[in-house]
Amino acid sequence: MTNPSLLILPGDGIGPEVMAEVRKIIDWFGAKRGIVFDVSEDLVGGAAYDLHGTPLHDDTMAKAQAADAVLLGAVGGPKYDVLDFSVKPERGLLRLRKEMDLFSNLRPAQCFDALADFSSLKKDVVAGLDIMIVRELTSGVYFGEPRGIFKEGNERVGINTQRYTESEIARVARSAFELAMRRDKKLCSMEKANVMESGILWREVVTEVGKDYPEVELSHMYADAGAMQLTRWPKQFDVIVTDNLFGDLLSDLAAMLTGSLGMLPSASLGAPMANGRPKALYEPVHGSAPDIAGQGKANPIACILSFAMALRYSFDQGEEAARLEAAIEKVLADGARTADLMGPDGGTPVSTSGMGDAILAALD
Ligand code: NAI
Ligand code: MG
Repeated sequence: MTNPSLLILPGDGIGPEVMAEVRKIIDWFGAKRGIVFDVSEDLVGGAAYDLHGTPLHDDTMAKAQAADAVLLGAVGGPKYDVLDFSVKPERGLLRLRKEMDLFSNLRPAQCFDALADFSSLKKDVVAGLDIMIVRELTSGVYFGEPRGIFKEGNERVGINTQRYTESEIARVARSAFELAMRRDKKLCSMEKANVMESGILWREVVTEVGKDYPEVELSHMYADAGAMQLTRWPKQFDVIVTDNLFGDLLSDLAAMLTGSLGMLPSASLGAPMANGRPKALYEPVHGSAPDIAGQGKANPIACILSFAMALRYSFDQGEEAARLEAAIEKVLADGARTADLMGPDGGTPVSTSGMGDAILAALD
């Protein structure tokens, strides 16, 4: 049997710095747990532009399509701001998402108890929080036609169209139900069926797909009420599924319940491949952080947690993912903090590699 394949695209800025720590973790799982990946590395974003004149070479795209999972660092930086829109580093990432047809974006909001004080909410509201927002990523108002700014009589009118087909709703709903089955079997769907026809259809289709998942307790909530409930008592939720626009807002909101950008992983999943695994891209939520790049200050945890998501959702290694998360929890409980996890009076931060090494030690 061949080993599962993992394509690593470190990208720009702090991307390569945090990815170097993930490489150590991947090596640890190979050496100590016998979980061996066929790892290859390639360029994306500005790094690819510098060499190829394009932010994603066709060969890299083909490798991504063939890989069992792709792990990406971050793209972009001030050096590339002058480039034409068509070759900007971000276009590399957008091409990956589009051509892999990654319609289901998973954004966890998970509270590490050692960081509960870091939240803007009361400690008991967030302690132990572990929820997942599933955002539809390839359709909805960001893509619907007609769109544009038009002249109407003697004034301008800006138009965007919220548009969802039944099959687009059904496939993201299915991915959310599958996720709920692996978690607490509780799914809340959010839309605004009270004022939007696309929301009425969303609710109908999610309910229909739910008939295939009788074990999952399905509820529906208007997205504005959902925003209130997320800040009031987030632990009432387990998995939330919603459209592209509401998901953009609600996933940012939920993520910030628990702390720093340096802690936030994500997964974007597509249709199952021939081997049953979904097409998958894992990446931290943060960008290339040019303000701290090259200084060893970046927090590698967001990228390491993205790898934990890959273990869980692409490679069926939920227990090993939990082992990695527990190691991170321990390191944080022991007091290790990168600079982004410290207040102004915080003491001495650990470096990017210091944090990676501490997590390795905790794994041992
Ligand atoms: P950013 O996420 O790169 O940085 C925002 C702030 O958070 C900065 O102060 C940064 O130092 C800090 N930060 C981010 N990640 C951190 C980490 N792991 N550890 C410690 N501190 C961290 O967002 P920004 O500044 O808006 O964008 C910078 C560049 O990144 C731009 O070129 C932007 O286009 C690109 N970008 C790329 C993304 C991606 O690759 N997915 C996402 C967001 C932005
Ligand atoms: Mg956003």
